[in-house]
Amino acid sequence: MKLSLICTLAGLMCTSSNADQVLNAFGEPSYGVDVSFPVHYGNILAKDDPNQPLGDRQALYDDYMKGCHDFYGKRASSCDVTEEDRWDMSLRQPQSVQNYTATGFKKVRAPERVFELLSNHWTNNQDNKEKEVWPTGNTYVNYWTSPTYMVNVEDSKLRGAGYNLKGKIWEGVKPILEEWTGMELEPSSMYGVREYTRGAILAPHADRMPLISSCIINVAQDVEEDWPLEVFGRDGLAYNVTMQPGDMVLYESHSLIHGRPFPLKGNYFANIFIHFRPTGKLLRERETPVLTDAGDDEMPIWILRGSPEERKWMREHGKKVVESPAAAPLDEVPQAAQTGNMNLLSYYATSDKKHLLHKKDVNGWQPIHEASRGGHKEVVELLVQYGADINSRTGKYSDGYSPLSLVIQNHGEDHPLVEYLRSLGAQEFDEEL
Ligand SMILES: *[C@@H]1O[C@H](CO)[C@@H](O)[C@H](O)[C@H]1NC(C)=O
Ligand SMILES: *[C@@H]1O[C@H](CO)[C@@H](O)[C@H](O)[C@H]1NC(C)=O
Repeated sequence: MKLSLICTLAGLMCTSSNADQVLNAFGEPSYGVDVSFPVHYGNILAKDDPNQPLGDRQALYDDYMKGCHDFYGKRASSCDVTEEDRWDMSLRQPQSVQNYTATGFKKVRAPERVFELLSNHWTNNQDNKEKEVWPTGNTYVNYWTSPTYMVNVEDSKLRGAGYNLKGKIWEGVKPILEEWTGMELEPSSMYGVREYTRGAILAPHADRMPLISSCIINVAQDVEEDWPLEVFGRDGLAYNVTMQPGDMVLYESHSLIHGRPFPLKGNYFANIFIHFRPTGKLLRERETPVLTDAGDDEMPIWILRGSPEERKWMREHGKKVVESPAAAPLDEVPQAAQTGNMNLLSYYATSDKKHLLHKKDVNGWQPIHEASRGGHKEVVELLVQYGADINSRTGKYSDGYSPLSLVIQNHGEDHPLVEYLRSLGAQEFDEEL
């Protein structure tokens, strides 16, 4: 409606399909996956489909794949194998992992000191950049027509580079990502400044774990047009995030599908990816571990119990998957209550999905029970503030535990939640057997 009115006023030709165009939270006309590039199953919305606003994307994709096939000749099928793996990951991974933020991405400015270090590193060493060699059949970037280059941050042959520089970059951005995710983080990966060249495309994907809580910094560019980073938000819609030098995009790289499907119009775009993973401690509880660190033999904390990713992890680690109804993945809100994820809960509390804060699962557990079992006082306070019943009981017939009894059982009488709940008149109820 709104758009067709604008079209009329501006005297533009708008097709009737525009009238139903969906707007994303930036207020821009948007679309879901498989419109700009294949994300889930390898198909793209056809150019004559009224919901395809981007024209003939199939032709662009066919050309992209032909580039890979021609480049690898006899080994062309390796390109198709990578593509299938990319779609599979995009489908499986986001639903299988713990998200730590409500939106999944956010643009800020990089800390000035970090940007300065990176720009200097780039200017000093640009002439010694190395052409990147990608694994056979890799389809994430079209390096066969638009090569990428790397100016490594730890290569001590380069001026000013080395572990010292790398350490300063890690430390410079870490607090920002910790603040954003609410989790204590540790480094997982950073190479250096990657330069993309004219025509470059980065296929939309979710990062391989443990690249979890990440950021991209635009270090330098020479472009005729902004080169948008396309991400699919929590609403499933596409967002173009544009970046100027010094801009930093924070993103949950293990769950947020991100790419640059529109060919780079410009000579180069140089950026760095910096990836962290959560240690398992909440930021505000640095001193008291709330989740145990996963050893090599234990599934990492960011994989959701009962998810397809769990089954994959179990298979790969030679463990038997026990399929039971109890292994059903927790919904996001109870999961957040269980792990003390205040960011996400505060988001729900102020959204039109508030009711989920009190939703019972099939066993009669509400988020307040999860939070009490987890011993998360801040979460319980928030839930109470938004109307949680402190004496509600678990169980199909509400004949199970009350929040107070869950705290006492799991954390003892001295836990601060005990005093808090008692001050509100909470009672101890145990399961009636
Ligand atoms: C993103 O940018 C491309 C290229 O400029 C444009 O065609 C597309 O409509 C934009 N998408 C959104 C969601 O704004
Ligand atoms: C995590 O976020 C991604 C996108 O941002 C979303 O697709 C996915 O469903 C979320 N995961 C869960 C378990 O809610």
